[in-house]
Amino acid sequence: QIKPKAVIVIFGATGDLAKRKLYPSIYRMYRNGKIADFAVIGAARRPWTNETLRENVEASVKDLDMNDQDLQAFSSHFYYQPVDVTQSSSYQDLNHLIQELEGAYQTDGNRVFYLAMAPEFFGLIAKNLKAHGLKEGAGWTRLVIEKPFGHDLPSAKQLNKEIRSAFEEEQIYRIDHYLGKEMVQNIEVIRFANGLFEHLWNNRFISNIQITSSESLGVEERARYYDHSGATRDMAQNHMMQMVALLAMEPPINLTTEEVRSEKIKVLRAMRHIKPDEVDDYFVRGQYGPGEIDGVSVKGYREETDELQHSDTETFVAGKIMIDNYRWAGVPFYIRTGKRMTEKSTKIVVEFRNIPMNLYYEKKEDQHPNLLVINISPEEGVTLYLNAKKDQVGHAEPIKLAYNNNFTDHGINTPEAYEKLLYDCLLGDATNFTHWDEVALSWSFIDAILAGWRKKQPDFPNYAAGKMGPDASDALLKKDGHHWWPIG
Ligand code: BG6
Repeated sequence: QIKPKAVIVIFGATGDLAKRKLYPSIYRMYRNGKIADFAVIGAARRPWTNETLRENVEASVKDLDMNDQDLQAFSSHFYYQPVDVTQSSSYQDLNHLIQELEGAYQTDGNRVFYLAMAPEFFGLIAKNLKAHGLKEGAGWTRLVIEKPFGHDLPSAKQLNKEIRSAFEEEQIYRIDHYLGKEMVQNIEVIRFANGLFEHLWNNRFISNIQITSSESLGVEERARYYDHSGATRDMAQNHMMQMVALLAMEPPINLTTEEVRSEKIKVLRAMRHIKPDEVDDYFVRGQYGPGEIDGVSVKGYREETDELQHSDTETFVAGKIMIDNYRWAGVPFYIRTGKRMTEKSTKIVVEFRNIPMNLYYEKKEDQHPNLLVINISPEEGVTLYLNAKKDQVGHAEPIKLAYNNNFTDHGINTPEAYEKLLYDCLLGDATNFTHWDEVALSWSFIDAILAGWRKKQPDFPNYAAGKMGPDASDALLKKDGHHWWPIG
């Protein structure tokens, strides 16, 4: 196992993301023997000390078994540097600390700058890192950027311009944590390592593909960010589009970053752009009202906080994406995602076309198409639905072949996804990060939908918390003769 060396600087070290995802994932890399010679600098505005940071780091990983001595050995790699990202002196101080730690930890001058804070500062920090020479270590330098990458195409372009004026595209790692999920990475393997599927993976044999990522939680303490964003920007523009790209891409000629990305980009280019006045034919938005989840009454979105009282932000989106290329012409890719839905689950259902004649079912409507279900989380695995004769009855019934990957998901923290991605970044493997072209293409697709919606006042709330979205989401499939397969 390669053990890359680096100083990792985390901007936003006192924030939620650092505590919930980054510290646990660095800890997991450490515990799994992937890193040994490293130091982490936590940078943020608050006047913390090394001790405060270390206590926070320890608290964030203490559920992940480790004895006190090991925990302290781990947290001793962490240093705190107060910064004001608008001040030159902060970058100079930071540079001195980096240099000192590079000597102490023998990290070969490799540097990772991880931006895990308010996106309005991304461009400024990138520019300042360059201006103050922090990029010029003796080894490699990489910049990791959290979402959201812009609010729409123009703002994403502007942000990209600012970042690119300081860093090369090869140095930029745009995180989409879904790409670090074991079963999302498995989409390619299931497709390209199995003749059984790959030969059928086209419009002659597949009827439609459904991707659901439902959450039962509401907006929690992120109301301000979320209300500005909505389900479409928060989940569809990035995670859902990435899954569509992986499901629809052509086999790459090899697994290098360039080849995989270029195949994904081709899919995004082939997605049928929706004109603002056609949006209702393709997309449905929703917002939850009061309802019940697991027997507990929950508030509607507009009642969550005072500032949401008049909100028209969508907490649910469903859509039909058409990929106008030779392989996929005519096959709808349906996506749906939202907050306060029935349960937390991410799942892909590939529905194969039915055989032309019904020999084994009493009624043709009972005929069950073959389904390949890829369970992304919380279960991880693959289920194949076939038809067979069971229990001596004369007709056929659907049966299931199920493979369960080891259950490794840890709820919403998904530290293992971050662990994989951070390790990839340290190794210089950008395959599971999003290239600028992917970001730009998915924003231009999403912007048209949002533009269409802006023309009309939504009729919110339109689904009760605990449901799988508004009725219009079911109607979207029904008019094509399809229905959502249950996620449970
Ligand atoms: C994030 C969104 O990108 O993904 C959140 O900002 C969402 O709103 C989360 O809850 C879902 O991720 P996961 O890994 O829990 O499915």
